[in-house]
Amino acid sequence: MKIGIFDSGYGGRFALKQCEALLPQHEFVGFFDHANAPYGDRTSEEIYELTKAGMNNLFDQKCDLVLIACNTASSQALRQLQESLPDKKVLGCLIPAIEAAIEAGGQNIGVIATQHTVDTKKYHREAFKVDPSVKVFPVATPKLVPWIEAGAQETNECQDYLQQHIQNLVEHHSIDTLILGCTHYSVLKTVTQKAFPDLKIIDSAQAQAEKLVDYLEHHPEIK
Ligand code: DGL
Repeated sequence: MKIGIFDSGYGGRFALKQCEALLPQHEFVGFFDHANAPYGDRTSEEIYELTKAGMNNLFDQKCDLVLIACNTASSQALRQLQESLPDKKVLGCLIPAIEAAIEAGGQNIGVIATQHTVDTKKYHREAFKVDPSVKVFPVATPKLVPWIEAGAQETNECQDYLQQHIQNLVEHHSIDTLILGCTHYSVLKTVTQKAFPDLKIIDSAQAQAEKLVDYLEHHPEIK
């Protein structure tokens, strides 16, 4: 099977790597929209149109299924795209990340993400559908994507910014779980876990790859 992976940029590589490692029997093709990244500060219309163009590109390459690995694009465009492409299989990344957080025992779940993902409140909604008793605390960390796109994620400035935002979530909301709600943040997982050893860290790209394995097992009709 040929599976497309859409992302706004650099983070798509992490999603691709995770999928290839877990599902080596399938062919993966990526569309990473570096030219238009970052998406996080764009308007809803721009995100929808750019995501749709990426989907069309991947389906034109004969993908049987497309994953929207980008949290920003999933929160803004997934539902509308699924409705406008009823014959195509398009899967997002928010439900996989929330399910993984809840399966890990998360009750107070922090999410760091782009401003746009936070503004859509989609993480709240998806969590409520899975387990209405969990609390979700999303916070925007808009400086991270430009730093990561520029390869500056190890600078003190970036690390201080990251840790300060997580520390606030720990102090003000007693989070027990943190979702890295942006594919780009996969690169920060190891350092975040080291700085906050008591937190369960969920990488949305990894969760999406793991849930894809389940999805394909339950949908043998997709060839
Ligand atoms: N990769 C996107 C996400 O997962 C964010 C990067 C961007 O702002 O373009 O939300």
